[in-house]
Amino acid sequence: MRMRAKPWAGPELDACPFFLRGPQRMKNHWLEWFPHKQPLYLELGCGKGWFLAGMAPQHPAYNFLGIDMKDAVLAPAKRKIEAAFGDHPIENVALTAYDIERLPDIMGEKDHVERIYINFCNPWPRPRHHKRRLTHPRQLLLYRTLLSPGAELWFKTDDDALFAATLQYLPQAGFTVFAQTYNLHALEDPDNVLTEHEAKFLEQGIPIKALKARMEAVVPEADRPAI
Ligand SMILES: C[S@@+](CC[C@H](N)C(=O)[O-])C[C@H]1O[C@@H](n2cnc3c(N)ncnc32)[C@H](O)[C@@H]1O
Repeated sequence: MRMRAKPWAGPELDACPFFLRGPQRMKNHWLEWFPHKQPLYLELGCGKGWFLAGMAPQHPAYNFLGIDMKDAVLAPAKRKIEAAFGDHPIENVALTAYDIERLPDIMGEKDHVERIYINFCNPWPRPRHHKRRLTHPRQLLLYRTLLSPGAELWFKTDDDALFAATLQYLPQAGFTVFAQTYNLHALEDPDNVLTEHEAKFLEQGIPIKALKARMEAVVPEADRPAI
């Protein structure tokens, strides 16, 4: 879907105290940026911020960093987060614009990321594009460089093929899946925070697939992907 141009997005983000332009300077310093020293959770491809707006005010004991490529979605995300916090100060959220395929440019092991959320990323259905999937082993091996030992990856999608592939990708990069469902909403989990795309797929009656995986200390030799 084509995104309508939003000339106001860049200037509004540049004036936002919780948006960081030029995130390369923050590599290995994200924990210092937040006023409270507490675990850092990362949302990759945060889109218009529904997830962060639902999570961050409810979980003040965690810091949340949302990354997306486009100002045109990050500016609505900024507004959504502000609306969710209301009069409360926004101290545990940061937003930045960057290409997730180059994540190690902006984050390193000293950032001690404890959880990654990937919600409804592009399924890239053509085989020649699979390497661009945010759950492809090529990406998962990059995430390993910034995750703390025992860190988790939580993933939701509407796409059956992407979900099946991700279940195979994770062990190849040294992650163990410890929870999975082919119909998240049948579980009626009160802690599930709806994203913008999740709401759309639910309306269409498409079951949401979800999993949680833990990063193991090493990538098993036998599973190591040829990438
Ligand atoms: C389908 S939308 C999902 C948005 C949101 N997570 C949700 O569930 O509603 C995917 C988002 O990922 C972002 N994205 C895709 N590839 C990316 C990349 N390589 N780097 C940064 N953002 C990316 C897109 O700009 C888009 O906002």
